[in-house]
Amino acid sequence: MTERALPVTPLSLRDERAEALDHGLALLRQAWASFDEPRPHQPPVAPERHELFGSPLPETGTGVREALDAADRVLDESLAQARPRFFGYVGSSGLESAVLADALAMSHDVNLAAEAAAAHLVEQQTLGWVAQLVGYPAAGGTVTSGGMVSNLTALMAARTRAFPESRVVGVDASRVAVYASAEAHSSVERAVEVLGLGSSALRDVPIDGRRRMDPAALASAIAADRAVGVTPMAVVATAGTTLTGSVDPIGAIADVVEGTGAWLHVDGAYGLPAACTDVAGHLFAGLDRADSVSVDAHKWLFVPKACGILLVRDPAALRAAFRHDASYMVEEEGYVHPVDTTMEYSRPFRALKLWTALRAHGAGAFREAITTTIELARELADLVRARPGLELLVDAPELSTVPFRRVPARGDADAHNRSLARALQEDGRVYVTSAVVDGVTCLRPCVVNFRTTRADIESLVDLADELGRVLESG
Ligand SMILES: Cc1ncc(COP(=O)(O)O)c(C=O)c1O
Repeated sequence: MTERALPVTPLSLRDERAEALDHGLALLRQAWASFDEPRPHQPPVAPERHELFGSPLPETGTGVREALDAADRVLDESLAQARPRFFGYVGSSGLESAVLADALAMSHDVNLAAEAAAAHLVEQQTLGWVAQLVGYPAAGGTVTSGGMVSNLTALMAARTRAFPESRVVGVDASRVAVYASAEAHSSVERAVEVLGLGSSALRDVPIDGRRRMDPAALASAIAADRAVGVTPMAVVATAGTTLTGSVDPIGAIADVVEGTGAWLHVDGAYGLPAACTDVAGHLFAGLDRADSVSVDAHKWLFVPKACGILLVRDPAALRAAFRHDASYMVEEEGYVHPVDTTMEYSRPFRALKLWTALRAHGAGAFREAITTTIELARELADLVRARPGLELLVDAPELSTVPFRRVPARGDADAHNRSLARALQEDGRVYVTSAVVDGVTCLRPCVVNFRTTRADIESLVDLADELGRVLESG
């Protein structure tokens, strides 16, 4: 047998490979060490970097070492959600075991559009494990790029079930309604728009005192629509709103939905991992009655982006929504290409990082880390209550989001809190974003990072107080 010669290509690392690997690992080690401790400030984008970003397409390369160094500096000057004092939006952690598995997955570049042997089986197993973790009787599902695509995928399945002809003839949007609480994530509205229903098909169902969808108001809205011949296509309950972490009463919503023909989807992109904990599990009662549920592993299951999970009771509903018979993707009898159950074509092996992390640490470690973040959020609420001049905007955090504001002695409190959020971001010792709750501007920290500690929570309160005073005196 003739020995196979290594390909002669300028893209191969060849002799540089061992050194590149060592260097890449050294950079990774350094990054992880820097996430162990909060850093004193967020470095601004350096002038050299601005110069670099203006440079033309290089015709010849720098070599991998120098290119990696430049990438590392870019990352150092970027907002990393992996850092322990990142409290903005709904963050993430970049879990180390999952990062390594992701690097392996990227190296093999498996494509889950078509038959991919073991990778497909691992994806299926991972879906089953997540279903087990959150307590949902899934019979199928798909791994997506995140909550937006999961919501869109679920609503596409709902549309197809309500209007089987809609894939061919579209739908008369004036005859369709989708219901979600007034505080549902904007991805629900976006999905309704993308599906061609128009956002006027989305009914904003009023919320109760705990900012959860009011099931009685949902029942009235559905009845009003049915009375004039509008089909209730889907109800989206949110299990952890982005604004305050409220969990809609899923069981009571399922009671209303039953018998209407509407598809019940639970958007648990942020909050659903809390279903596996003793401290918050009761909030998700009735989850098992949903037609579909989504959860972002790249949020509160700590793995790096992108990794969204959509689970369904009836996998046939996904096939009905997405299946195409392409002559270049012939299927053996009884086999369905994964592409026929989801929206994307080329699809990376996103499940591997979650599968590896669940195997490496065990579900118990995830449960413990999620519980810790909920406890930290509760401690943060206590610290806010105890600090004169700070005010909590909810009675108690439902999950791990703690909206609060600083009340200045005089002047416009909304303007003060907008400036305070900006000042905290510029200061760079913590990262927190602002939000508006019932017209009131506040800081809206969200704790979903396994690296966050009690000291980090304390520093957030201290800094909000300190910089607030500076702003007030200036
Ligand atoms: C409740 C909820 N749904 C959906 C999304 C969108 O998720 P993604 O950014 O992964 O698309 C978010 C994002 O924060 C969310 O909080």
